[in-house]
Amino acid sequence: MQLRRSAPALLLAPLASAFYLPGVAPTSYKKDDLVPLTVNTIKPAAGPDGPLRSVVSYDYYTPEFGFCKPADGPKDVSESLGSILFGDRIKTSPFELKMKHNETCKTLCKHAYSGASAAFVNEGIRNGVSLNWMVDGLPAGQRAIDQVTGNPYYNPGFFVGQETPEGKTEFNNHYDIFIEYHEVSGDPDHLRVVGVLVEPYSRHYTGAVTAESCQRPPPPITLDEAAGTEVTFTYSVYWLPSSTTWATRMDPYFYPYSANIQWFSLINSAIVVIFLVLTVASVLVRALRKDIARYNRLDQINLDDLSGTSALEDGVQEDSGWKLVHGDVFRTPSHPLLLSIFLGNGAQIFVMAGFTLCFALLGFLSPSNRGALGTIMIILYTFLGIIGGYTSARVYKAMQGEKWKLNIALTPLFVPGIVFSTFFLLNLFLWARGSSGAVPFTTMLVIILIWFVISVPLSFAGSWLGFRAPAVEPPVRTNQIPRQIPPPTTYLKPIPSMLLVGILPFGAIFVELHFVMNSLWSNRIYYMFGFLFLCYGLMIMTSAAVTVLMVYFLLCSENYNWQWRSFLAAGTCGGYIFLNALIYWVSNLSLSSLTGHVLYIGYSLLISFLFFILTGSIGYFSSWWFVQKIYKSIKID
Ligand SMILES: *[C@@H]1O[C@H](CO)[C@@H](O)[C@H](O)[C@H]1NC(C)=O
Repeated sequence: MQLRRSAPALLLAPLASAFYLPGVAPTSYKKDDLVPLTVNTIKPAAGPDGPLRSVVSYDYYTPEFGFCKPADGPKDVSESLGSILFGDRIKTSPFELKMKHNETCKTLCKHAYSGASAAFVNEGIRNGVSLNWMVDGLPAGQRAIDQVTGNPYYNPGFFVGQETPEGKTEFNNHYDIFIEYHEVSGDPDHLRVVGVLVEPYSRHYTGAVTAESCQRPPPPITLDEAAGTEVTFTYSVYWLPSSTTWATRMDPYFYPYSANIQWFSLINSAIVVIFLVLTVASVLVRALRKDIARYNRLDQINLDDLSGTSALEDGVQEDSGWKLVHGDVFRTPSHPLLLSIFLGNGAQIFVMAGFTLCFALLGFLSPSNRGALGTIMIILYTFLGIIGGYTSARVYKAMQGEKWKLNIALTPLFVPGIVFSTFFLLNLFLWARGSSGAVPFTTMLVIILIWFVISVPLSFAGSWLGFRAPAVEPPVRTNQIPRQIPPPTTYLKPIPSMLLVGILPFGAIFVELHFVMNSLWSNRIYYMFGFLFLCYGLMIMTSAAVTVLMVYFLLCSENYNWQWRSFLAAGTCGGYIFLNALIYWVSNLSLSSLTGHVLYIGYSLLISFLFFILTGSIGYFSSWWFVQKIYKSIKID
């Protein structure tokens, strides 16, 4: 199956399937070899014309659903940590698929639904829960057409049932499974699975299932919520030869996001960002050069006039702008401990995100490698604890912080603690609902263990290195007595300046964020890491440029509290991301349960908080560099 994509997207897509990590090597089958069909979580999905109505997922073998089990009971298929965290629960199934061996209407099992479980299943159908199977590790999907671009794709998963226009809920108990296989270089003993499509049907069988009832299917079945219903599950398998190769078998599953829109928006924001950065740079350089020349000239006059009574002394007194605050600009900000902890963690997230995107760009995190993204992020974040500790310690030392023990202890505990507690609380909701989306308790323990055994010691080591390193010396001395800060003009007040500064980096990532949100909440596979990588770069440049500009204006207005102001202003980007999530919530989702709302808001808050720390740190460090630079270039007696 060929997807029409524009040339640049074609450049990125093959890259993603060029590498595979061990464990995802292709499996070849001979005719009549058993091909495993595994089942994953039952997840709600957005319908073709309806919004997403729930985010609570269930284990495939939840008793109420009554799906057929293997004779010797379902077994867990081993998974990576990232895969578990992202909600995969893969188990074995009773389906028997034999390579190149067609079957029609094989009976799987019978299940008698009680009234209560019928009600449970019917509610699930109304919420759009869908089944997620995998054959040879490849998700079973349905053919779909993107409504915007008209491009075909395979949408992973298929619905448990469907609601008729009359409001009846039909339950799907027959599956037509179409498997595309590829013969490697014409060798009939090297057959590989390269595509899986399932068409589910609802059939009210009366009596035994025969070839007759398969030819002329009976009418749909509805589960009776009062009396209960007995259901016979059947399936057919059709093997279809295909020319798709194993390496490109995931391609049809990628949602055909219009690459043109992405390029358009990316080039758009790239132009805006470059324009912005150039403007900021040129304005600043010119203004600074003028300032510095003036300051140094005044110094000169000042020296010349030292002997006589000076009429110009007034002129020196009138000296204005950022030089005036030279004795305060490196004054320790309020709450240096908290700021240094945020900055340490920000640096850690910054490097982690950069590395993750590089890996993704090189194709190591191909979507066919389930959970690789989550796993690599956790591993990187854990090991980058050393960067977090080091940065936090150096910043704290530069701020002349004294509670260095607290700094060392809290850097690896405070922010991760917030993240983990939120995560844990949200999981409690899922546990209460009996959802399989809840991360198992053992996985939680594993995470805590990894945290305390690897990350915390590494962070301590980083802190030790950071505190041993010489303190970053400010270029100017700090006065004993703090200056009065004149009242700010409207735009430089904290809130307006935050809102103004934060919106620009948000603007740089806005379109890509929309695609990522759609993937996260609509069960679509995101693969355009090239775009994401470029967007990350644009976001960094914008945050840095606008924050530096704001800090310049702030210092010119004789306000020297640039540390927290730069962090908070750039961090406001996280606030906009949360706002965006709220808009998405109102416009694209219609969640039916309280749990759904709580989970959505909770996860959005968590992601926004991490972005707050990330962009805030970018803003702070670029401002720090800027402030060091400008005060180094003036003479102060
Ligand atoms: C299986 O059925 C499909 C669809 O009817 C057909 O195209 C294909 O040739 C059959 N394959 C085998 C191996 O019989």
